[in-house]
Amino acid sequence: MRPEDAGAFLEVHHAAVRELAAADYPSKVIETWAPLPIAAEHVAFVRSNPDREYRLVAESEDRIVGIGCLAAQKGEILACYVAPSASRSGIGSAILRALERVAGDRGEFLLELDSSLAAEPFYRSHGYEVQGVGEHVLNNGTLMAYIRMRKYLGPSDSSLGA
Ligand SMILES: CC(C)(COP(=O)(O)OP(=O)(O)OC[C@H]1O[C@@H](n2cnc3c(N)ncnc32)[C@H](O)[C@@H]1OP(=O)(O)O)[C@@H](O)C(=O)NCCC(=O)NCCS
Repeated sequence: MRPEDAGAFLEVHHAAVRELAAADYPSKVIETWAPLPIAAEHVAFVRSNPDREYRLVAESEDRIVGIGCLAAQKGEILACYVAPSASRSGIGSAILRALERVAGDRGEFLLELDSSLAAEPFYRSHGYEVQGVGEHVLNNGTLMAYIRMRKYLGPSDSSLGA
């Protein structure tokens, strides 16, 4: 991801949350998870990437339609979001496979993530197994339910099988 993609990165994130995850959470969670308008400070924070996350974007016709994010050193997928207009066309799967490849190339063979309630069937369809459930405390104290999932990468998920 290029630093100048930070605004579009957040736009995809917010649109996916507000349209694709809204049925699974109370509006207070959605408004805290993806607040509008997108603040300039938030864009600057994403752009600066202080934790040096691995980030990628999926583009279609010169437009960013999906985003992915990985903390490679922790073996943790941090984000996979697809623009509502582009959902269910395989973009989320392509992002996830790309993140798995990067993790495998960096020597991680166990990937974990906190799935939203909305995304559990998606991750399950890619071989992730439920470990348990939890609640994130968002920055204003709102609780957000998540599902802890994980997957052991096989040779075909890493550069070994590529
Ligand atoms: C989850 C998400 C990334 C999936 O992206 P996508 O591009 O639509 O996913 P794909 O088209 O690659 O779907 C692959 C498979 O996953 C499963 N799947 C995806 N979304 C699903 C849904 N809402 N319900 C049930 N199964 C789903 C299906 O098996 C699908 O295959 P199919 O379309 O042939 O049935 C996207 O819906 C999204 O951004 N959701 C909201 C944000 C979110 O909660 N992100 C995860 C944060 S942890």
